[in-house]
Amino acid sequence: MPISHYPVIARAHTNIALIKYWGKANEKLIIPENNSLSMTLDNFYTDTSVQFSQSLTHDELILNHQLIDDSTRITKFLDLVRKRAGINFYAKVESINHVPTSAGMASSASAFSALAAASSKAAGLNLNFKDLSRLARRGSGSASRSIYGGFVEWKKGTNDSNSYAVSIQEHPIMDIRLITVILNRSHKRISSREGMKRSVQTSPYYDAWKKTTASDLQKVKNAISKNNFNQLGQVAESNAMKMHALTLSAWPDFMYFKPDTIKVINKVKSFRDNGINCYFTMDAGPNVIIVCLKKDSQFIKSNLSKTLKSDNIVVSGPGEGVKFLHKIK
Ligand code: PMV
Repeated sequence: MPISHYPVIARAHTNIALIKYWGKANEKLIIPENNSLSMTLDNFYTDTSVQFSQSLTHDELILNHQLIDDSTRITKFLDLVRKRAGINFYAKVESINHVPTSAGMASSASAFSALAAASSKAAGLNLNFKDLSRLARRGSGSASRSIYGGFVEWKKGTNDSNSYAVSIQEHPIMDIRLITVILNRSHKRISSREGMKRSVQTSPYYDAWKKTTASDLQKVKNAISKNNFNQLGQVAESNAMKMHALTLSAWPDFMYFKPDTIKVINKVKSFRDNGINCYFTMDAGPNVIIVCLKKDSQFIKSNLSKTLKSDNIVVSGPGEGVKFLHKIK
């Protein structure tokens, strides 16, 4: 295919890992140490438009209507696309994030998944889902999973060609909901890249993490196929805590929990003591993601709204995989 003469637009949704990716076997190629498993969310997404053009003298990035001065990470990513397509034109990239990044929500998964789809098509490449996932992975590991909707597994592989995500169940049978509780974050945090590196290099528990994560992943896959919500929730919560134990046991130690994080975790436990089946997971930040069933989601949200702003409590169901759009929205 020749390069596109008009902007190509793609939308990708964020995902939350139920079995976490934490640690790289290869930093440059972003090959993980363990397989991970996520659910793509319907409520958070990124729309990205890309056009390569002979008339540009550098890559141009407009994020949420603002011109960004430093687009090094985007240029590095686009270089992979240019190399593969055999072109040397620069690109104009326009992106709208429907993810509250300022409130500490990660957007790299949806951002690089949308960028992989839009830029490869704009460069005249017609990549299949496997190759899109491989490409998205080079921007950010978790982006490899956002190519697909529903439940997704990233197979770690051993090299660039065999490390990619696959669909486990695109339209989940389980009536699962993930409630994102956005807790304010104004501090400078340790990036997931740095956090992973430190955990791999210094935590004495890293080997145990790798071993138990492989069996956790199998348990979650069984839970998905048997529609066993409690098993999925229990294993996801325990896996998240094991990941955070790697941060506490690293040197220098670090932690993503904030005082409010603990409050929400305790709240989840008290819901559970009162007969509501819900669990929690957390990424490399202070936000808590509550894992529950649709029938309990409104009760949980309104209960939490007594102490937290309800705008900061977002209930998401399973979202779809990456797709092309006619207009940026
Ligand atoms: O893809 P990255 O570099 O943003 O790392 C993601 C790390 C976690 O969110 C903590 C876990 C995961 O699997 O998404």
